[in-house]
Amino acid sequence: MHSNTRDLKLNGSAQRTKRFSKPLATSGITVDIPECWSQLRAVPRAMHEEAFIKILEKYHLPIDSPVPLVSRYSKSRRWSAEELGACLRAHDRGISVALMSAALNRNPQDIIFRLLDERHGEPGGFREVGLKNAKKWTGEMLAAGRELFEAGLTAWRIGALFGIDFEGVEKLLYQGREGYGHAKKNPFAICTDHKQIVNRAIIRRRKLIQNALEAFAGEGRFARIISEAFPSANLLCIEQDASTFDRGVSAHQWAPTVQWKKGDNLPILQDLVRNGAKFDLVDLDPFVSCREQIDFAWKLLADNAALFITFGGEYRRSFIGTNRKAIQRRYGWLNESLSNSDYLEIIPSYFFGWVAHEAAANGFILKLDYCVRYPNNCRYWTTASAAQPEACKEWYLENVIESESGYQWKNLIIPRFREVRNRVSELETGVPFSPSPKKQVVKKVNKQLEFPL
Ligand SMILES: C[S@@+](CC[C@H](N)C(=O)[O-])C[C@H]1O[C@@H](n2cnc3c(N)ncnc32)[C@H](O)[C@@H]1O
Repeated sequence: MHSNTRDLKLNGSAQRTKRFSKPLATSGITVDIPECWSQLRAVPRAMHEEAFIKILEKYHLPIDSPVPLVSRYSKSRRWSAEELGACLRAHDRGISVALMSAALNRNPQDIIFRLLDERHGEPGGFREVGLKNAKKWTGEMLAAGRELFEAGLTAWRIGALFGIDFEGVEKLLYQGREGYGHAKKNPFAICTDHKQIVNRAIIRRRKLIQNALEAFAGEGRFARIISEAFPSANLLCIEQDASTFDRGVSAHQWAPTVQWKKGDNLPILQDLVRNGAKFDLVDLDPFVSCREQIDFAWKLLADNAALFITFGGEYRRSFIGTNRKAIQRRYGWLNESLSNSDYLEIIPSYFFGWVAHEAAANGFILKLDYCVRYPNNCRYWTTASAAQPEACKEWYLENVIESESGYQWKNLIIPRFREVRNRVSELETGVPFSPSPKKQVVKKVNKQLEFPL
């Protein structure tokens, strides 16, 4: 687990600063961590999200998990002094963090940080113990694990469900990912399939595309969707990674109107602007950030063009202190007091508010056709119409509120992918997203989980 490494290395030195300074309150609830996995009790079925149950049923696997099967970013709950005490006793008995995590329904990373704080500088220090008698993956478990992960269940919950150490789970799931990681094994490749489902549906809404620009073309998966929907469209694909470029070019029998360029898109975009090129579709779909490319996009958009933007890897870790500052430098907004989960929840509205601010300043009004929150990025599908400065200003003031040096798109409803994956026909026909009643039930379940001990 990447973020632990720093602390683990520092464990032996005298320099470690404590991560947590406030003493924990007692809850009055006794907490015990059992000696072995078989002593863990399964939580009631009603605590699991239906989507995960369905996946387990599909593979005929038992639904007896010691932790609730709920998606990423579920609300965190406060630590109690009793829980920390139980972890310390378990650590000293040589019990694995994986077992502690399953017993307490807590992210193992949080447990490791707490143990590092408490045991640093003591004889023996913190020792990460592997899970004894860990179960072996079966074919069904692996297939189900991959689907559960894609559907938003974290690796540590999958580990707890199957009785497997979370680090092993992460490795297996990431390595097993199709197309995972160009040369760098980049985990941001995660939701490509999910993105294409919405891409395809949104493209079906458009009557005609004549000139399209795919500035971060990757292996050309979206380019192929565009070119199949509009075979005579001129399509310019730019990709800077040499091996990805090669895979993209050879992945398909591209029509003669599709052109691939290898290289950094920035100078290419600059040239296009200089030459007065206009596109009726501009897609900016980076792994990490397209902050600089957005500046060029306005000059390349035809009236009523499709403008698709991904708020990439910079979203995924935006809540971390130093990254909050980087987000401020790029998009204006800074808030250092929000909890991590609240920050992550709200940042997509500040990102899109900033995009709207730039659009208005460059003579465009954006219609937000759809947006989706994936575990690693957010994507916005818009239509950009050219407008006079007064109309742009009016639209901007109606939709954006300026606060904490940033620009917040008012009332942004950005569903998670699992909420839209079964709504492809709505997506294709342009029905706006509205939360289904099922979602309310999921929320109630999550609330009950705040004090599951
Ligand atoms: C998320 S992938 C694109 C996926 C693609 N849009 C699709 O839907 O099939 C992002 C790609 O952008 C490429 N890339 C990153 N920075 C770039 C730059 N400055 N110029 C061109 N390509 C870039 C990466 O190598 C990566 O392949």
